[in-house]
Amino acid sequence: MLDHLGQTKRTHHCGALRTAHVGQTVTLMGWVNSYRDQGQLLFIHLRDREGITQIVFNESVNAELLAKAKQVRREFVIAITGECIARDEKNFNPVMATGEVEVAATEIKFLNDAQTPPFELENTLASEELRLKYRYLDLRRLEMQKNFRLRHKITLAVRDYLDSRGFFEIETPILTKSTPEGARDYLVPARTAPGKFYALPQSPQLFKQLLMIAGYDKYFQIARCFRDEDLRADRQPEFTQIDMEMSFVQPDDVFDIVEGMVCAVFQAAGHEVPARPFQRMPYNEAMNKYGSDKPDLRFGLEMQDLSEHFANGPFPVFADAVAKGGAVKALVVKGAATWSRKQYDEIGEHAKRHGAGGLAYIQVLENENKSALTKFLGADGITAINQAVGATVGDAVLMIGGDWETSCNALGQVRLEIARRENLTNEAENKLLWVVDFPMFEYHADDKRYYAKHHPFTSPIDDDINNLEGDLSKVRAKAYDLVFNGSELGGGSIRIHRSDVQAKIFKALGLSEAEAREKFGFFLDALSYGTPPHGGIALGVDRFAMLLAGAKSLRDVIAFPKVASGSDLMTDSPSEVDKKQLDELKIKTVEFS
Ligand code: AMO
Repeated sequence: MLDHLGQTKRTHHCGALRTAHVGQTVTLMGWVNSYRDQGQLLFIHLRDREGITQIVFNESVNAELLAKAKQVRREFVIAITGECIARDEKNFNPVMATGEVEVAATEIKFLNDAQTPPFELENTLASEELRLKYRYLDLRRLEMQKNFRLRHKITLAVRDYLDSRGFFEIETPILTKSTPEGARDYLVPARTAPGKFYALPQSPQLFKQLLMIAGYDKYFQIARCFRDEDLRADRQPEFTQIDMEMSFVQPDDVFDIVEGMVCAVFQAAGHEVPARPFQRMPYNEAMNKYGSDKPDLRFGLEMQDLSEHFANGPFPVFADAVAKGGAVKALVVKGAATWSRKQYDEIGEHAKRHGAGGLAYIQVLENENKSALTKFLGADGITAINQAVGATVGDAVLMIGGDWETSCNALGQVRLEIARRENLTNEAENKLLWVVDFPMFEYHADDKRYYAKHHPFTSPIDDDINNLEGDLSKVRAKAYDLVFNGSELGGGSIRIHRSDVQAKIFKALGLSEAEAREKFGFFLDALSYGTPPHGGIALGVDRFAMLLAGAKSLRDVIAFPKVASGSDLMTDSPSEVDKKQLDELKIKTVEFS
């Protein structure tokens, strides 16, 4: 028989009571985390968002109450009233913040019962599928609640900081037109215009630029974004950005604001505040030294360039690569000379998975250099490589040759894999840096054309504007990424504010005037009505929370996430809809073979 809540009022949360409360009559409400029935005594661990408190029922004090309390089961919702009493020192529970006290109950109300949960909440062996199906139970775990408290603190700190710097929080539409971030759109059929669709925003990019044109000067939004792309641990189809835009700024102004905001967030999250200014590294340097545009600087293992060394040399694969304008990149790995054949094969496979044709290596041993390249270069040739890269006995030299980007990227992935295997990362350290001077365009060999690397509204570096009619691969952009421990936390740019420059970019991207008008006509019109120089950035809130929480997946910091197939296991969406709904939308579905 359940009780009514009636006029019973909660006096404290379950994490609140300390020795200072001893002697007070308190009322707590929450879930039965666990209970121990010792015959004449019953202990309940009562849980709410703030913690756990031990409640004790004693037959010698109130036998009737004990009998009632014994009906509790896990996850029942109860209210208890009683006296906060001190525990004997020998019964202190150091794991619980409330562990020096307990509540001697004088009343219990059963507010609700509960089915036996399909998994024990804190049992980490329960499969993630099961946890996601019953997400509301999984979210009851204190670990999860800690993550969401952190996430709340992050957005609160962001709002406070940006408000103090003169930013307005302004919402932008969710039902809108396709935006230019380059992923697939989620489309929403329009009932009032059969055959036409809204697109969900991949970001508020054009709207925030329009707000600058409208004179709002400094904008931000904790914005939901939607991108239909393949999921990974650090990617969800629905995610949230701290989206910002400012007028009359250069990259330095954006960096200053964002660094201040990031420090405010670290402070609010209880992390050591990083030193400012954050390091800045040009894209080319990041690729050359770390093989990534989001280098993890928590460990060294810098790559070196051996292109000149191998140019016109006797090892045909590398000589060819250099002759074709490519590169040979090398990594010296301490202590790797004695790796087994299997270890080299595994690292080689890893390199191949990331595009390398293969992985060449030299084992620098006490009395010999072991390498498959000896038959091309001779013993002296191998020694010359070791000298060039500074390898000494005990080291291995790993090398990849091919086109520059692929070689850098593949060896960069090898670098990360070695750091993983050898535990080179100092997990206690946080490394933040700006990667700057990105190329404006990237070439896609499959359809033989250039695409905007960031998005087509990004401004080229002033000195490179004249190159827009020449070699597009040389044009650099006023674009920047904020990198946190090897993850891309944010990306942004200074935008094009002149119609003539925008027209040149569209032309370079192979977009005809008519196509540009069809896609972005409203925006091109707006550009011609007095657009201030402006720029901005967006930081991933989910990634920020994941990194600060030390979580491995975005799913640990998104309340109701999707799985890799894009579905929500709890609501079972996407799902079929009524025929009536489709009829209203004038939509017929057909099977594609
Ligand atoms: P960008 O596409 O670089 O820039 O996105 C900015 C940041 O958003 C986060 N992010 C994601 N997080 C989770 N799941 C995803 N699928 C996902 N995609 C992106 C990342 C990323 O750094 N409009 C521009 C910003 C600008 O130019 O101002 C934009 O959206 O943390």
